[in-house]
Amino acid sequence: MNYDKIMKLALERGFFFPSGEVYADSTAGFWEYGPTGVSFKNKFIELWRRELVRKDRMMEIDGSQIMSQSVFEASGHLSSFADPIVKCQKCKSTYRADKLVAEIVKIEVPESIDTSEIDKIISEKNVVCPKCKGDFESTRRFNMMFKVGIGPESENAFLRPETCQSIFIDFPRLFKTMRGKLPIGIAQIGKSFRNEISPRQSLLRLREFYQAEIEVFCNPNKLNELDKFSAVENTELNLFINGNIQTVSCKKAIDENILPNKLVAYYLGLLAEFYQKTGIDMKKTRFRKLGEKEKAFYATAAFDFEVETSIGWLELVACNYRSDFDLKGHSNKSKEKFEVLDQDDKVLPHVFELSMGIDRSLYSILEHNFHEDEKNDRTFLSLKPYLSPIHVGVLSLVKKDGLAEKTNEIFSQIRIKYDAFLDHSGTIGRRYRRLDEIGTPLAITIDHQTLQDKTVTVRIRDSMNQERIKISEIDSFVAEATAFP
Ligand code: GLY
Repeated sequence: MNYDKIMKLALERGFFFPSGEVYADSTAGFWEYGPTGVSFKNKFIELWRRELVRKDRMMEIDGSQIMSQSVFEASGHLSSFADPIVKCQKCKSTYRADKLVAEIVKIEVPESIDTSEIDKIISEKNVVCPKCKGDFESTRRFNMMFKVGIGPESENAFLRPETCQSIFIDFPRLFKTMRGKLPIGIAQIGKSFRNEISPRQSLLRLREFYQAEIEVFCNPNKLNELDKFSAVENTELNLFINGNIQTVSCKKAIDENILPNKLVAYYLGLLAEFYQKTGIDMKKTRFRKLGEKEKAFYATAAFDFEVETSIGWLELVACNYRSDFDLKGHSNKSKEKFEVLDQDDKVLPHVFELSMGIDRSLYSILEHNFHEDEKNDRTFLSLKPYLSPIHVGVLSLVKKDGLAEKTNEIFSQIRIKYDAFLDHSGTIGRRYRRLDEIGTPLAITIDHQTLQDKTVTVRIRDSMNQERIKISEIDSFVAEATAFP
């Protein structure tokens, strides 16, 4: 399965690996990015900034990861952010109840299913503990936030389960001081934390994970007054609604009432354009409209942007219409005013969010760009050059005859500006293959001819073609080949 191949590559080539792996008490659900992974992640984030934050003139903030109890009382997370769990009476193993039942009974189980309904299925279908065949205790809800104690009195606080609560709380200040005008997007990248019952599949279900969230504040009476909608009119969306998949332009989605309003269609369009540029195969993607029982507690309408992989469909972005749920909650709790002026109207804005999982997105890009090229006895990642962890390999054909020194000199000239990798050791073929495996689009080789005529060869990853260019042209060649679109 490609999942296993990606994992092997990730572990062997510095993409990601388990946290604290030398210790037996390291817990599941925590992973680390190595140098290759960090470089890839940073470029993905840069693309996100370019294609969403800057393109749509959003603001970006960087909020706290630990927040007080009041925040999560107001947001509803203390009362509602809980997963159903069941514990085996015999071996005491605990499982996420909805997932267990779905897996064993082979039925779709909505996230917001009542615990009593799960108990009914367990009893009717005779579901027992997969480890010891023991019977289960009754299903109960488990709050997924990590609690922390602040200071010597250990005041209650929590690691944020989503980055966006600080965006909501900061909204009045940001709108005023940054001279905001509705609709306005506020974005944030950072870590969130969820005490998952069954973390698994490396980056796909983590307890500590990266989100890139965008909260668009809008006037609910003007969701169809959006001049910029024309920019995405022709952008195609794969919409999966009530079991039917259809590919339609944003314009058609509005004209035929497939999507609720222009604001929603516009941001789904921007998101589709972004993912297209990540190298995800868009034919294997869909915006799935969630049913009533599947939506998060704060959402009135929701579309998940999903990608098909070797282990099934993965949700990469939750696109939630959160109405005024959050601003109203924080306003009531804090007694502060969250209304703003939209021209002459005083409004409590509604929010449409694009909540992106970065880790899952990175995994999906790797899988969609993974190739086994048997003819040429190589594995390669056809990553977009602007997302490749290493832009260019710099190799000496042999180390002797002054070639190593010349190679070092060329590497020194480009290594500050580009992610370059210097390699003198092993056969040249093996060095090319190592670069291919991490998706390096270009490899420059310094050979004896270099010393005579100041040229080098450039090998192109996908075609494996080579061409000769002058040393003086390397900078512009690499710049052009690895530029963001
Ligand atoms: N902010 C939505 C989520 O984290 O799922």
